[in-house]
Amino acid sequence: DWTPAAFVQETVEKIKAQVGDKKVVMALSGGVDSTVAAELIHKAIGSNLYCIFVDNGLLRKDEFETVLDSYKHMGLNVKGVNAKDLFYGELAGVSDPEKKRKIIGRLFIEVFQQEATLLQNISFLGQGTIYPDVIESVSVNGPSVTIKSHHNVGGLPEKMNMGLVEPLRFLFKDEVRRVGREIGISEIFLGRHPFPGPGLAIRILGEITADKVAMLQEADSIYIEGLREHGLYDKVWQAGTILLPVQSVGVMGDERTYEFTVALRAVTSVDGMTADWAHLPYEFLAQMSNDIINKVKGINRVVYDISSKPPATIEWE
Ligand code: XMP
Repeated sequence: DWTPAAFVQETVEKIKAQVGDKKVVMALSGGVDSTVAAELIHKAIGSNLYCIFVDNGLLRKDEFETVLDSYKHMGLNVKGVNAKDLFYGELAGVSDPEKKRKIIGRLFIEVFQQEATLLQNISFLGQGTIYPDVIESVSVNGPSVTIKSHHNVGGLPEKMNMGLVEPLRFLFKDEVRRVGREIGISEIFLGRHPFPGPGLAIRILGEITADKVAMLQEADSIYIEGLREHGLYDKVWQAGTILLPVQSVGVMGDERTYEFTVALRAVTSVDGMTADWAHLPYEFLAQMSNDIINKVKGINRVVYDISSKPPATIEWE
């Protein structure tokens, strides 16, 4: 019988045997998988695990600082790398969704490789790959059409020529959460909604600017906090806000406004492959609309996305 306790014990022994007194480098994303994987490796080899957490400027409001802090409290040997300007610079003027993904993926690998080279004598690359990623990357290379070129930390192994340490390779998401609970990882990590690797870049339709990121971070923070306060966060599988590339007319006091629209998205799902739009209470939506329009400068309209997947996708890009 599979139990988290037995899995942890066995996995820690395996990592010790594989790695010995060599060093491992690993990218953290703030998500469940990389966090649990890092803690398992850390349990096995301690400070011989070197973690890198990159700020691509496309994370949620205050997320980089908060998550970096939590990692440090967990005892991880982690370096935060501020690469915002690099990402904003290369994304300037780009509106095509697939181009954005490719740029972000490439820059991430560049930054990570550069940081890894600064560390001496690294022999292994740690990764939070889970079983569905293994299956997905097989089908991605098959003859099927690419709908969205997903990447988390994919692409790293081939380029880095290092051994791989992937303690979660045969686990499903719910098992990863159970393992995380077993080793004392905070519910704040374990209960988090999925968040795409390219982050807010694929929730800002069209061109990305630092101002638009800041605007969307504010709206997103109001919405996510609102979901938590109303006890709705755990009832939906994923939620977020999307900044639309249209401006429309509104009125504020006696002034005419001409500002952006934010779409709210919330879905129920089991695995993200199919999803239904969440039937959030009208009163909640009304309050979110009010709060966002009143508090976020540059937004004068809020809409709710009532499309399910398929035929829509969860993200808008
Ligand atoms: P879609 O939009 O395809 O999203 O219905 C399904 C799930 O995948 C996430 N997603 C991504 N995750 N890199 C990622 O790491 C990506 O490029 C990417 N695109 C979508 C999305 O947030 C949802 O959970």
